Amino acid sequence: MKANLQMLGAFMSFYLKSVNIYKVHTPFCFELLSEMYDDSKNYYAFEEIEQLRKTLLQIDTPFQQIDLGAGSRQKNQNGIRQVSLRSITNNAAISAIQGRQLFRLCHKLRPTKILELGSSVGIASLYMSAAFPEAQIVTIEGDPKIAQIAKANFDQFRRKNIQLVNANFDKVLDDILVKMQTVDLALIDGNHTKEATLRYFHEILEFCNEGSVLIFDDINWSTGMQEAWKEIKLHPRVTASISNFYKGYIFFRTAFKEPVHINFVPKSWKPWQMGFFN
Ligand SMILES: C[S@@+](CC[C@H](N)C(=O)[O-])C[C@H]1O[C@@H](n2cnc3c(N)ncnc32)[C@H](O)[C@@H]1O
Repeated sequence: MKANLQMLGAFMSFYLKSVNIYKVHTPFCFELLSEMYDDSKNYYAFEEIEQLRKTLLQIDTPFQQIDLGAGSRQKNQNGIRQVSLRSITNNAAISAIQGRQLFRLCHKLRPTKILELGSSVGIASLYMSAAFPEAQIVTIEGDPKIAQIAKANFDQFRRKNIQLVNANFDKVLDDILVKMQTVDLALIDGNHTKEATLRYFHEILEFCNEGSVLIFDDINWSTGMQEAWKEIKLHPRVTASISNFYKGYIFFRTAFKEPVHINFVPKSWKPWQMGFFN
């Protein structure tokens, strides 16, 4: 109840400061958001990936997940909880809408070196790899059974540009970053605590370049995540941030005259912001 009220309060404060595309005046952000939200082109990959989601949603067999992060409030003391492919695909995998937005972002920015923290069953990686097949994607998943399923999905899609690492982020992130040398895009989508999120941000930041983008999921999931997001977007190296309440995007481009921070909503959420009075 308390968590719900706090989420509602956070949403109201986000919404009051939010803008739709008509009020985005930075050319880079305008072009990116137009492509992510308003491009209606359909790609064959969307259908293929969503077909996989449908199949996974039909598998009800229970198994034990070792959750190494803060992703659920329903695990026992050892971090173990009972799940099925259906429940994971429903609750943890990226949605079809957000998957398409991620695809369009990768299609536009063409990030060569991609890092994902938290593969789950592999849906977000599949969207990213379809958008830009030249990318080299490293995705890390701590749970062995889920990692095995993600790997099988990558094999089924013959995605040779995705490397899955079955390990705890905390144990392998440093080495993976050194091997990658640079990070053009990182999707930080697991272990949603303030401390871990800030730690991953600072570690990955060392490997970012001017064109890099960092995407944080569940930035309003808890007060800790809200605090982490606030701190991240105000970091001196960050030149622009976009929040759609659920995900937060961070940029380092130096072309902006001053830092730009956008709370973004689709056109229909603020239909009166048509730009007539700009
Ligand atoms: C929300 S899901 C990822 C969803 C996926 N990125 C997508 O969009 O389809 C988060 C995943 O991170 C994994 N995870 C959480 N904390 C972790 C950690 N410390 N090390 C490795 N994996 C972790 C969980 O097992 C879970 O599968």
